[in-house]
Amino acid sequence: MKFLLALIAIWVRPLAVSAQSSCRCVRVPTVPVCKSPADQEQTPASTCWSELDWAALNATVSGKLIRNTPPAASCYPGPEYNKDDCARVGLQWSNTTFQSEQPVGYCYPIDNNCPITNVTGRAKCVLGPSPVYSINATEPEELVAGIAFARENDVRLVIRNTGHDLLGKSAGYGSLQIWVRYLRKGIEYQGSFKPSRSCPLSDWTGSAFTVAGGYVWDELYQEAFARNLIVVGGGDPTVSVIGGYIQGGGHSPATHDFGLASDQVLEATVILADGSIVVASPCTNPDLFTALRGGGGGTYGVVISITIKAFPSKPVVAHSLVIVPESTADLEPMLDAIADMYASYPALSDAGFSGYGSWSLNDPMTTYGNSTAGYQHAFAALDKSLPDAKADLQPLFDRLMAYDSLNISLRWFQFPTYAAYYRAMSGVHQETGVAESALASRMFDKGALTSNHGQLRGMIETVAGSPIEATTNQVLLVGGGKVLNDPGYSGANPAWRKTYLVHIVARGWLEELGPEFAAAVKTDITYNKYNAMRTWTPSMGGYLNEADRNNPWWREDLYGADNYERLLRIKNKYDPDGIFYCPQCVGSSNWYQQMLPEEEYGPLCAR
Ligand SMILES: Cc1cc2nc3c(=O)[nH]c(=O)nc-3n(C[C@H](O)[C@H](O)[C@H](O)COP(=O)(O)OP(=O)(O)OC[C@H]3O[C@@H](n4cnc5c(N)ncnc54)[C@H](O)[C@@H]3O)c2cc1C
Ligand SMILES: *[C@@H]1O[C@H](CO)[C@@H](O)[C@H](O)[C@H]1NC(C)=O
Ligand SMILES: *[C@@H]1O[C@H](CO)[C@@H](O)[C@H](O)[C@H]1NC(C)=O
Ligand SMILES: *[C@@H]1O[C@H](CO)[C@@H](O)[C@H](O)[C@H]1NC(C)=O
Ligand SMILES: *[C@@H]1O[C@H](CO)[C@@H](O)[C@H](O)[C@H]1NC(C)=O
Ligand SMILES: *[C@@H]1O[C@H](CO)[C@@H](O)[C@H](O)[C@H]1NC(C)=O
Ligand SMILES: *[C@@H]1O[C@H](CO)[C@@H](O)[C@H](O)[C@H]1NC(C)=O
Repeated sequence: MKFLLALIAIWVRPLAVSAQSSCRCVRVPTVPVCKSPADQEQTPASTCWSELDWAALNATVSGKLIRNTPPAASCYPGPEYNKDDCARVGLQWSNTTFQSEQPVGYCYPIDNNCPITNVTGRAKCVLGPSPVYSINATEPEELVAGIAFARENDVRLVIRNTGHDLLGKSAGYGSLQIWVRYLRKGIEYQGSFKPSRSCPLSDWTGSAFTVAGGYVWDELYQEAFARNLIVVGGGDPTVSVIGGYIQGGGHSPATHDFGLASDQVLEATVILADGSIVVASPCTNPDLFTALRGGGGGTYGVVISITIKAFPSKPVVAHSLVIVPESTADLEPMLDAIADMYASYPALSDAGFSGYGSWSLNDPMTTYGNSTAGYQHAFAALDKSLPDAKADLQPLFDRLMAYDSLNISLRWFQFPTYAAYYRAMSGVHQETGVAESALASRMFDKGALTSNHGQLRGMIETVAGSPIEATTNQVLLVGGGKVLNDPGYSGANPAWRKTYLVHIVARGWLEELGPEFAAAVKTDITYNKYNAMRTWTPSMGGYLNEADRNNPWWREDLYGADNYERLLRIKNKYDPDGIFYCPQCVGSSNWYQQMLPEEEYGPLCAR
């Protein structure tokens, strides 16, 4: 018996390392959820975790505490197994709205710790980096209770709305998640904005919406479009209004005309790490107000309400342009044409155009007609006549027509309202990927696009990759115009104020190709492709909401070096104990994840 105890002690000790006082209290190790609950009870857990009184927390939040299971758990042997439920989940797997309604559903990347299909032949179902418990809050007090529980028990805390975050900021191994999606205290319209408390520094007298809860843009668009108004919101309507999108900057089909989404914020109501609820505006907590306007979600406090500007709608003229090589045997002319496109973006932007595009030498989705290689975009301008718009595009069109081996197709559209344009050409629900992927984004200023055509062409060739890689590139012509004006009280990367274009480069892979292949793709994205863009735009940055998980220069790239230091002071003032941790967030350098063997997640420990 003594021998057995000694054995257990030896077995437990290395696992318990992660429960040292320098680490957040965790449940160790991860247990396949396909095992029965009884097996889970026998799992050695850190002492602090086993002492946690989840039942008491559940009572405090009126029974809204959920023990999380991955959405596809019903596909695996065990107590959750359910053939019909598995089939239902399978049909909805790539539906971003479905994923965001699951307490631990994710879409970018998809959940490979419990995949829907056994493609790899070694499919397992574990919670992995997903939070262990969630509070499905409908009241601010329930969020406060979650923060207090995490603070008092030293439990890792995660804030989630849709779970759309690309950096994994809405996940966290061994954590308690507070979920703001079902906090729904209404969307309120004001024809003429009045600050909730007198604030002479707020000079906006136009219309505004107060969004008090976890609504998605689709819901706010319905309110805005019904009043023929424009709000600067997600190109994708399934992103949340008050969460990571707006707090991280937020680009939109409307940013060129009105500024970043974060620039529209007039005031916010925020739960702080100490549980107090405060207003952030130019008059109260102006530093917090600044940090929330672009300094990144998930790190300064929990936003429960935000008031943003709304603008009168305008007629829209738009065009779609598709370029397809007649043969994929020689892709050089295609790359030449893409370089011409890039050189034209600043002029198009200055003429009032903005929108989204993509190109690839071999896109598995055959986005370009029936071709895997090509370029396409849909750009629009507000309040411009069709002849003027055609004249603006003519120089570029003439240049493209000179390529004999490219098929160019151009179509023009006119819409009486922004709403009609958004619904027809922009607001499409994106589907999640089916493969794993790595991506990186980089901002481009005017000089980088227009100064040295030969070197620009070289950079484009590097990010294009060889066709066999199936690299895809996205063009976000969302800058220029109002984005170039710093409105004050902005936490966003100052590089935004020079940005015309954000370029996203991405590569996917199938998990069966193995970890070495995956590592090689990630290295290629960060150190070859992203680095080529970074070298070409040394004074610019990357977009923190669409960023590379492996970027070693993330502090300066995503925030700007000086801006990071400024934001860090605000972070340390409002959350001195680091209750709100998220990867690549301001202040996260004080922490590291002690990775579990062969995993990309683990307990959160202080440096
Ligand atoms: C399908 C899709 C389309 C996208 N389209 C666009 C686009 O058009 N333009 C664009 O700029 N970006 C876009 N993005 C990127 C998007 O901005 C980020 O994924 C963003 O983080 C999503 O915010 P969320 O609140 O919906 O997601 P979540 O994953 O729930 O949250 C993201 C981050 O914000 C924090 N957070 C969430 N809610 C709160 C809150 N109430 N208070 C404090 N912190 C909070 C979380 O902790 C996390 O750190 C898109 C992403 C996806 C997946
Ligand atoms: C919390 O309480 C509710 C209502 O009693 C219950 O249904 C739920 O399972 C509880 N959650 C946990 C994690 O025990
Ligand atoms: C996506 O999921 C949402 C929420 O579950 C659902 O309402 C919608 O119909 C789904 N869309 C499709 C195309 O199935
Ligand atoms: C996945 O497939 C492999 C090989 O066919 C099999 O051994 C394994 O049990 C499967 N896993 C699940 C969860 O079905
Ligand atoms: C979360 O709460 C909302 C509102 O009460 C409810 O509609 C939803 O089904 C809950 N989600 C889960 C996963 O329990
Ligand atoms: C290019 O255009 C011609 C004429 O419109 C058409 O016949 C041909 O199929 C197109 N080629 C490709 C690759 O789209
Ligand atoms: C793609 O090919 C199909 C079948 O050949 C054809 O019907 C369709 O029009 C093509 N689409 C485009 C955009 O060229």
